[in-house]
Amino acid sequence: MKKNLQRAIDFEKKYLPRLAKSDYPHFHLTGEIGWINDPNGFSVYQGEYHLFFQYYPYDVKWGPMHWGHAKTTDFIHWERLPCALAPDENYDKDGCFSGSALELADGRQLLMYTGVREVRKSNGTVVSFQTQCLATGNGVEYTKYEGNPVLDEKDLPAGGSSNDFRDPKIWYEDGKYHAVVGNRAADGSGSILKFVSDDAFHWSYESTLASCHNQFGSMWECPDFFPLDGKHVLLTSPQSMTSMGLEFHPGNSTLCIIGEYDREKKHLQRENTQTVDYGTDFYAMQTLSSLDGRRIMIAWMQSWETSGCKMKNLPFFGQMTLPRELSLKNGRLIQNPVREIERYRTVKVSYKNVMVTEEVNLQGVSGRFIDMTVTVRPGNPNQMYRYFKIFVAKDGERVTMIRHKPENNTIRVDRSRSGFPHDIVNVRDFPINAKDELKIRMIMDRYSLEIFVNDGEQAASFVIYTPVSADSISFSADGCAIIDIEKYDLEV
Ligand code: FRU
Repeated sequence: MKKNLQRAIDFEKKYLPRLAKSDYPHFHLTGEIGWINDPNGFSVYQGEYHLFFQYYPYDVKWGPMHWGHAKTTDFIHWERLPCALAPDENYDKDGCFSGSALELADGRQLLMYTGVREVRKSNGTVVSFQTQCLATGNGVEYTKYEGNPVLDEKDLPAGGSSNDFRDPKIWYEDGKYHAVVGNRAADGSGSILKFVSDDAFHWSYESTLASCHNQFGSMWECPDFFPLDGKHVLLTSPQSMTSMGLEFHPGNSTLCIIGEYDREKKHLQRENTQTVDYGTDFYAMQTLSSLDGRRIMIAWMQSWETSGCKMKNLPFFGQMTLPRELSLKNGRLIQNPVREIERYRTVKVSYKNVMVTEEVNLQGVSGRFIDMTVTVRPGNPNQMYRYFKIFVAKDGERVTMIRHKPENNTIRVDRSRSGFPHDIVNVRDFPINAKDELKIRMIMDRYSLEIFVNDGEQAASFVIYTPVSADSISFSADGCAIIDIEKYDLEV
């Protein structure tokens, strides 16, 4: 085994067993030590679900990228496996960037990732060269392919940049291997290139699946492309997005393109576009097709913009979202927590038809490890409330607010008083489609709040670092609201 990988594995062996479980989320994956970002290689291998991740074991900040590794059978409990890849070849000496995985017919697991090699020019600037590389393994240990890189500058269409050519997502279909890869086109913005291969080792360029044309941000990172409910979906994470109404927030954002796949031209005919998640913390999502045929997505529950803002004393930085089941309805992406989370529901507290005006607490409605759905209607059918608010993770000092404003049919989430010691983006407003009734499901773990509106029509993820002692929940309305509540404690 090469030195850098051995060092990472030895480091994990030394430190992982020492960690105090109390520092960690109960059911959201972290690296336990060091830094993580994008989910990689989310796939089925020998009947289990594997997840790799962008990983720097030695510090809570981004560094030369390794691939950390874990697996699960239920998307909730993760078993940690040794670090899978480290930068140790000339073609990936500055990082093993994001990529994907699949099971080969011969039983090996194939990883496809971006190898990064930086070159310092005579004027002092550093240029990054990005190529696509392979490794194979047995689900625990991996060997890099001697023919690496398998895709480089020569394979790009005219104008494509070898400095921004990354994040391959592979799949097998109709007797061939396919991959989509993010690239920067001649116009300076993103395009998603499609490559094919007969054997998964020799690849060639096939088409440009979709192009940004400077419409949705600039470079498109981490593409994923799959059929869903009779359409095709392209997910990607654009950099440098400028805001568009309340749909797309600025900065590193997410984009879902729904359309028809033209199999002649190998091109996606765009029909609808939307954000994937409206929260402050969601990026670089990736999906798999589960053993029972569900399309399941996981993402990095963090924003690059705030990735320098951390809590002192935590031995890790970065966490994944709860995996979500995807579907399409009325031309939109629907996301709901994986149904497996329901197995971990314990005590149930429910209320029906509670009238809410001024702030109210309800007996038994509290907690920080919870799955809670609140359904709200106007108290008087002829008079809508002006605001309806849910306060969670609350004590005398700290609180996170979820607020519905019917006048413009938006939800605002405000974590500015959640205890985060940084003055960062703390508020998000996003459009919803509530009519007579609004349903808000909240999944809370130690450092997060994930919201699903109207059975998954909108999803929004937020990191909150509120101490778990702040576990009070209350409701208020400006006007009169009637609510039903179903709250479960989650014990994982
Ligand atoms: C997205 C990303 C990828 C890249 C990786 C590096 O968050 O920038 O494009 O492969 O992170 O860690």
